[in-house]
Amino acid sequence: MKLQAMFKVLFTTVSVGSLMLAGCTQQEQVSSQVQDEASPSIVEVQQRSSPTSTPQPAERTPDVVYVPTPPEVVDRMLKIANVTSKDTLYDLGSGDGRIPIAAVQKYKVKKAVGIDIDPERIKEANENAKKAGVTGQVQFLQQDLFKSNFSDATVVTLYLLPELNVKLIPQLLKLKPGTRIVSHAFDMGDWKPEKVEQVDGRTVYFWTVPAKIPANLQKYTRSS
Ligand SMILES: C[S@@+](CC[C@H](N)C(=O)[O-])C[C@H]1O[C@@H](n2cnc3c(N)ncnc32)[C@H](O)[C@@H]1O
Repeated sequence: MKLQAMFKVLFTTVSVGSLMLAGCTQQEQVSSQVQDEASPSIVEVQQRSSPTSTPQPAERTPDVVYVPTPPEVVDRMLKIANVTSKDTLYDLGSGDGRIPIAAVQKYKVKKAVGIDIDPERIKEANENAKKAGVTGQVQFLQQDLFKSNFSDATVVTLYLLPELNVKLIPQLLKLKPGTRIVSHAFDMGDWKPEKVEQVDGRTVYFWTVPAKIPANLQKYTRSS
């Protein structure tokens, strides 16, 4: 009887111990699951800042398809804007990153940022930056250019569409006076360019942000 009781105690202790152990393991699993569920935000932050990371899924369809600007046109765009090492350049809809990369490589800009809504383009741009050896000097952000903050720009480059350029006017007019804007192929409606140049059959348009908004552009400064 005594021996039977001892076995019972031993059995019960082992069973409770196993349950506790299982409970702990389960708790660890749940906690690690919670961490896993929480970790995407950390991963997301890392993915936004790491040039070698996997891009996020596309927010929406791009407003214009990807067509690259030929290198000689890129060069003329940066020349017409008189880009120097003091500049902070943003390419809105940056494709494979060639404009910000050229701005860093050839014109030694202080800061170059490419914004594109398409994760494939961001991936490609980061790979190109790596190949060009300018990782760390150029940044590619997967964002909708109409929602992005480029208020520190001193140069903005565009190769979008005429109606997208016009849609951007309210954001562009808020930039620091003197900020230069260059567009490949497309003008900006009733905001007339200061310079227009031809290169290899392509047209490059140039504007500077005025200190005083002219009467014909006042409509773009009124918030809707
Ligand atoms: C014609 S390509 C120009 C690429 C590059 N700037 C160049 O000149 O070689 C236009 C780019 O804008 C991007 N894009 C379209 N809509 C956009 C949006 N709303 N926000 C950010 N990028 C956009 C496209 O994914 C595409 O890469």
